[in-house]
Amino acid sequence: MDIVLAPDPILRQVCEPCEVGDKSLKKLAKEMAKTMYKNEGVGLAAPQVGVLKRIIVVDCDIESSKKNPVVLINPEIVDSSGDVVIDGEGCLSCPGITVPIARASEVRVRYFDLDGSECEMEADGLWARCIQHEIDHLDGKTLFESASPLDRLQALQDYDVALAAGAKPGETSVKVR
Ligand code: NI
Repeated sequence: MDIVLAPDPILRQVCEPCEVGDKSLKKLAKEMAKTMYKNEGVGLAAPQVGVLKRIIVVDCDIESSKKNPVVLINPEIVDSSGDVVIDGEGCLSCPGITVPIARASEVRVRYFDLDGSECEMEADGLWARCIQHEIDHLDGKTLFESASPLDRLQALQDYDVALAAGAKPGETSVKVR
């Protein structure tokens, strides 16, 4: 699967809920996970591969060499707590840049798994940040929409430079000659 790059209008669409228990989601999730690992991402949302459905794949266990993707269908943040933390984020759809984004440090997310069971997960650290980032994608938001107005202007400038320098998905910074 190819990664859809900003500013493709596909990335600005609000995605439709998945039919819970839909068997075809297994194949989609498998392909998405494969694409995520191939591009060295820690998360991927369906619109990033051109599918306007509410499904994300996340694996923030960067210490482990084992691939253990978590598939979240129709994910919803039901509670957030802890401090709001600003940290740099990259995105496979916006290669070559890192953008400061404010996120809740702890979230509780409700979702369905591939078997159609309702699940809840508590996440913090990178997992919390990544899940919030991927859910933003389902609502048509990329790094540019999630950043503060000032950071957004800087990010748009940086992105032009990165694209001109040939940035590829998985790169969060590009050496500019
Ligand atoms: Ni992203």
